[in-house]
Amino acid sequence: MRKVVQLFGLWSLLSLSHAQLTDAVDPEGEEEVVDLFTTPRTKLAAATSDFGYNLFRQLAARDPKASVFLSPMSISASFTQLSMGASERAEKQIYRALRYHTLQDSQLHDTLRDLLSSLRASAKGFKSAERILLARKLRLRLEYLNSVEKQYGVRPQTLAGGARDLKTVNDWFKQQTGGKVEQVVPSPLSRNTAVLPVGAAFFKGKWITRFSKANKMEDFQRDGEAPTLIPMMEQENYPMKMGIDPDLGCTIAQVPMEDGVSMYFFLPDEVTQNLTLIEEALTAEFVQDLSNTLHAVQVLLTLPVINLSYGTDLLPSLSDLGLSEWLAETDLIKITSQPVKLNGVHHKVVMETAPEGAEYASTTPTAKGQSLALTYRVDRPFLFLVRDEPSGALLFIGKVLNPSDLKRV
Ligand SMILES: *[C@@H]1O[C@H](CO)[C@@H](O)[C@H](O)[C@H]1NC(C)=O
Ligand SMILES: *[C@@H]1O[C@H](CO)[C@@H](O)[C@H](O)[C@H]1NC(C)=O
Repeated sequence: MRKVVQLFGLWSLLSLSHAQLTDAVDPEGEEEVVDLFTTPRTKLAAATSDFGYNLFRQLAARDPKASVFLSPMSISASFTQLSMGASERAEKQIYRALRYHTLQDSQLHDTLRDLLSSLRASAKGFKSAERILLARKLRLRLEYLNSVEKQYGVRPQTLAGGARDLKTVNDWFKQQTGGKVEQVVPSPLSRNTAVLPVGAAFFKGKWITRFSKANKMEDFQRDGEAPTLIPMMEQENYPMKMGIDPDLGCTIAQVPMEDGVSMYFFLPDEVTQNLTLIEEALTAEFVQDLSNTLHAVQVLLTLPVINLSYGTDLLPSLSDLGLSEWLAETDLIKITSQPVKLNGVHHKVVMETAPEGAEYASTTPTAKGQSLALTYRVDRPFLFLVRDEPSGALLFIGKVLNPSDLKRV
């Protein structure tokens, strides 16, 4: 009986009702909810996040059995550089896909540059680099090269068309990401490469609270397959935020990291690789509401210690996001007057997790944590986000069905 009561208490404490989520702005004003997306910077962050969620859904739908990992901020940044070379009409099409059409920001490029530089502050642990590769033989317009360099501090790279190009490109990205992202372009560039946007991102954030136990090998469950052994880290009385979402069939955790970054975990109740329901729910607004409605708790937290790496060509997924018309007749008139095609959109992301953190968890639980004896254990397929809380920018989104799919290459 006691157990039932306890469980019921837990349920009502942590359950996120969707009325609560959707009516986040309470007319009575009892629960003060901060409306984040009001400044040019946070509106841009929200647009980029929504673009990221859309792109993630496209990629996930292409192969439902595959793990996926993306940095929406980096992809938006590289496509924004490309959009500077498009006609006004084509720019509109690109802006629509990037969700910029909602912004009405005449200083969009400055807003993006400033947002990127604040996100790349070293304490956040986020590095990203974007560059447009262009064939030298295209008779490029110098004005385009100059204006991208002036705005974003990176001059598009002109390709000579020889075997040396690949090394030059990959060395630059490796250097920009502190040696962490290698082989961004995985195979030699074809002689016909004309226009190729490339982006890379790396993340190693620091937890606020460290994990005292690490690297114990434990089972990670998989849908319809034998479990696989992976290193896990664990900490008692871990301070974080949590909520049960009965409609999405998952428990959501928000684990704080240094300098305003958070990692969100969406852990389905069942061991399943079908995360469609959660994927469909993701929007900038939804996640912002979560950050306001999740409950502060102390739990026994168990997380995988994994290094993730993922590289992909986003071109097919981007054409599904409303760019197919533009891609069929690529207009990059401010780059070159010659007819060109995009040869791909290379994107590579790498992330490291480690038990390190600035603070120790308290050894004695608070009264609340003790009576509930909560655990949160990420040992089965999950979805995660890395978000910058002050701006709402989505640094990363990932779906891990099998950690070894995303082993470093
Ligand atoms: C995945 O789950 C969704 C929602 O629960 C369902 O509609 C869909 O049919 C499922 N897909 C597969 C492949 O089982
Ligand atoms: C992840 O990568 C870092 C740096 O390369 C390495 O020190 C660490 O041992 C790796 N961790 C795992 C679990 O592979």
